[in-house]
Amino acid sequence: MADFTAAPSGLSALIANSPVASVISNPRLQDNPIIACNQAFIDLTGYPENEVVGRNCRFLAGPATEPRLSEMIREGVREKRPVLVEILNYKKNGTPFRNAVLVAPIFDAEGELEYFLGSQVELPEDAPGPSASRHDKAMKLVNALTPRQREVLEHMAMGKLNKQIAYDLGLSEQTVKMHRAALLDRLGAATTADAIRIAVEANISAPAQA
Ligand SMILES: Cc1cc2nc3c(=O)[nH]c(=O)nc-3n(C[C@H](O)[C@H](O)[C@H](O)COP(=O)(O)O)c2cc1C
Repeated sequence: MADFTAAPSGLSALIANSPVASVISNPRLQDNPIIACNQAFIDLTGYPENEVVGRNCRFLAGPATEPRLSEMIREGVREKRPVLVEILNYKKNGTPFRNAVLVAPIFDAEGELEYFLGSQVELPEDAPGPSASRHDKAMKLVNALTPRQREVLEHMAMGKLNKQIAYDLGLSEQTVKMHRAALLDRLGAATTADAIRIAVEANISAPAQA
């Protein structure tokens, strides 16, 4: 039996301080269970941590969840690329909500798939289809980055670690870290997970969208 309570500490840093509901899953375990979630996820969904960790995230789906959108998430997971879909989900008390969910792969130092990041944003009930306003806001934030910061962000959104980004861009790891810190600051992102979400919302990492 896997010990789901022992999420590596670096992982908590990825999502713990985020104001955005977030989970991390481990695709190396049977059925890709969640191994960590943050307080914002508990607040959004109403599920306590012990009913989240160890389970696949499909428990948020329900009777009116769109099968086509679930399939888009499955496809992104299968193909190890970020997806952003606005899907009908359910809170623990049965209340349905429109969830703008991002699912993005995170790779290890060897370039092997290690985790999936999931982040969930509740959209207003009267949102007129795909939320243009989040896209516009994310675009504005991304456009305020320097070209180098933007490049680093694009690689972060592909789930790459500093070491891999440094190699790809021909920079030192130290320089990548500096750009990463500066771009988080400029985006107003509390965590790497939030920065990845902004990148995908701005559509700069060419994910599938619905
Ligand atoms: C990290 C991660 C987060 C996910 N978050 C959600 C979510 O918030 N809502 C949702 O409907 N599906 C989410 N999914 C997808 C579900 O885990 C599941 O694949 C989907 O509901 C389809 O169910 P099925 O695999 O039983 O067909 C997430 C998947 C991963 C890997």
